[in-house]
Amino acid sequence: MKCTACQEVDTGGTLGSGLSRRDFMKICTAAAVYMGLDASFGAQIAEAATAKRLPVIWISGQDCTGCTETLLRATHPTLEHLILDLISLDYHETLQSGCGKQANEALEAAIKAGGYVLVAEGSFPTKDGGIYCKINGEPVVDILAKAGKNAAACIAIGSCSSWGGMPSADPNPTEARSAAAIFKMKGLDKLAVMNIPGCPPNPYNFLSAVLYFVTFGKLPELDDKGRPKFAYSRLIHENCERRAHFDAGRFAEKFGDKGHGEGWCLYKLGCKGPETYNNCSTLTFGDVGASSWPVGMGAPCFGCSEQGVGYTVGLHSPARLVNVTPPSFFTPIEGEKGGGVTVGAAAVAAAVVGAVVGAGLATSKSVGQAEDGKK
Ligand code: SF4
Ligand code: F3S
Repeated sequence: MKCTACQEVDTGGTLGSGLSRRDFMKICTAAAVYMGLDASFGAQIAEAATAKRLPVIWISGQDCTGCTETLLRATHPTLEHLILDLISLDYHETLQSGCGKQANEALEAAIKAGGYVLVAEGSFPTKDGGIYCKINGEPVVDILAKAGKNAAACIAIGSCSSWGGMPSADPNPTEARSAAAIFKMKGLDKLAVMNIPGCPPNPYNFLSAVLYFVTFGKLPELDDKGRPKFAYSRLIHENCERRAHFDAGRFAEKFGDKGHGEGWCLYKLGCKGPETYNNCSTLTFGDVGASSWPVGMGAPCFGCSEQGVGYTVGLHSPARLVNVTPPSFFTPIEGEKGGGVTVGAAAVAAAVVGAVVGAGLATSKSVGQAEDGKK
């Protein structure tokens, strides 16, 4: 069967990175659907993305390079495809081949030309004039502000640049701050900033946002923390593969016990899924299957993407049960036919009741432990 979008654009040939146009169309259509757009936007995204390469300047502050690394692991599209076909990566300390004077000149020229998307990775130290992170002898906080002046928009990739992340953990010795906070400090509050938090974030959240900007010339709709709603509007807990165990009150009590081995809920091991907004439970990492995310592999979510949770509260302390809601979709049951209560409605009711029962059991256990002085 032929894809109508492919017929509209071009079915032959390959792009500079070797990716076929047909595969590229599939990626753009998937990205459109993933961002909540109609599939027909795939053709528009593909046209826009191949018409002009978006200039990008990437500034790294106090970071572990994990956000760049996560992009290197993406395969739809691969980073090489992103760099060779879709964007013009004018400055990136880790990936550029130039160095020293040559790299600095490239940065200066790109800033002068303007109209680029500025990607900020890592946090930015503000203590003592920002001397704790310098590039070419200049505090990175000043370089970020200089690059922010001519930028069309900024994408803060990772928790560090979104809200301070690990370097800002108490006692925050360098007074590390987010990219948005730096722009505010430097009088650049008008610059549009989108946060893609995570440690590291899922590369597809970043790549989809880039494709959106390339196509529509603006950032996608953001929530009150500057995060794209298409990726951060639901709690991880809502669509977690272990949610049925939470609802039924089946919890792993310690690492390696029977419940842990059988894939039960990790709430009592400190899982922060009930208070972390992200799409980890629906868009897994690395294209290697359903379990390629922390909870899928048996590790409680520690809320790496949520300000006030990751690097802030105890790893194994119980999560606050905020706004526990049913999942956004339910597995259809074959043969369901009208009459009585629908599967969806029954599931919603069951999930709400189950959430309360599960949470109640978890809370009573936690309270019981506290009363026993075991906590
Ligand atoms: Fe999944 Fe964690 Fe929620 Fe349990 S508490 S259902 S492991 S997100
Ligand atoms: Fe981070 Fe939790 Fe997702 S630890 S990667 S927000 S499952």
